[in-house]
Amino acid sequence: MSYSLEQLQLPSEILQQIEKRKKTYNEEETLLIGKGGFTPSELSVLTDAIIALSLGKNVLLKGPTGSGKTKLAETLSQVFVQPMHSINCSVDLDAEALIGYKTIHSNESRTSIEFVSGPVIKAMEKGHLLYIDEINMAKPETLPILNGVLDYRKMITNPFTGEVVRAIEGFGVIAAINEGYVGTVPLNEALKNRFVVIEVPYIQGGQLKTVLSEQSKLQNEKLLNQFVTLSSDLITQVQNGQVSEEAASIRALLDTCDLAQYLPPLRAIERGIIDKLEDDREKAAVRNIAETLFE
Ligand SMILES: Nc1ncnc2c1ncn2[C@@H]1O[C@H](COP(=O)(O)OP(=O)(O)O)[C@@H](O)[C@H]1O
Ligand SMILES: [Mg+2]
Repeated sequence: MSYSLEQLQLPSEILQQIEKRKKTYNEEETLLIGKGGFTPSELSVLTDAIIALSLGKNVLLKGPTGSGKTKLAETLSQVFVQPMHSINCSVDLDAEALIGYKTIHSNESRTSIEFVSGPVIKAMEKGHLLYIDEINMAKPETLPILNGVLDYRKMITNPFTGEVVRAIEGFGVIAAINEGYVGTVPLNEALKNRFVVIEVPYIQGGQLKTVLSEQSKLQNEKLLNQFVTLSSDLITQVQNGQVSEEAASIRALLDTCDLAQYLPPLRAIERGIIDKLEDDREKAAVRNIAETLFE
């Protein structure tokens, strides 16, 4: 399900801001505009993110794995009709992956050193969106380089060229964080301070059913309803600390529904959800729930 801007009933100044950001883009840039498709648990998840971005705030999407954070970022790119440059954070993320790198360029007559802009510089210079996924996966020492980009100055001294880069109008930052997920470190306070936080919980009930039937191959009404119940039971288990978070991911559920179009549902659940868990007790807990629902 996607929402038209009219349905969101945004204040007129915000709509003007959105209008102002629209530009004409070349083919390469057009490919970077999001396709949308996010279904918010409550409309405010979407409207508040739109309002914050149009006010020039940095937006931090916070929620469990597979709750639609990346989908929401793509939907924001669609709403603003703005290309979005993405960074996937990991422990290997370094300044070059953010800012860019120098390379030797040669043609017949001469050889020169050129700077190839990375996602941060591209988005700032072109007034595009920047999406920083799993921001808390990055090593804490890598991100402070972005402090100036993320505060009111919206500028950075490129450490590789010495050049000062200022963001042009329209530049906006969306980051995603999966708090508590294994391998993540809590986000540094100074960094967190620079964002407006939007919580992105798992969708449930009718909304989840719509997403499952739109995004998976499964079309059997009864099975779709059972998978919606499975999801809600798994979320409860996760909240009670009985199984780890991945078990409730909508990404895993979509895989499972695809398989369930062709495999018996219990086998689909084994492959799509249970076999990804490490702990035997967790596996047994999920299997138990699945067996009561599907037999
Ligand atoms: N609220 C939602 N609206 C639409 N699709 C969703 C939603 N939540 C999850 N999904 C689907 O589940 C999968 C995982 O979503 P994704 O955005 O990658 O999650 P995250 O970035 O939070 O880990 C995607 O296929 C996405 O389309
Ligand atoms: Mg993601």
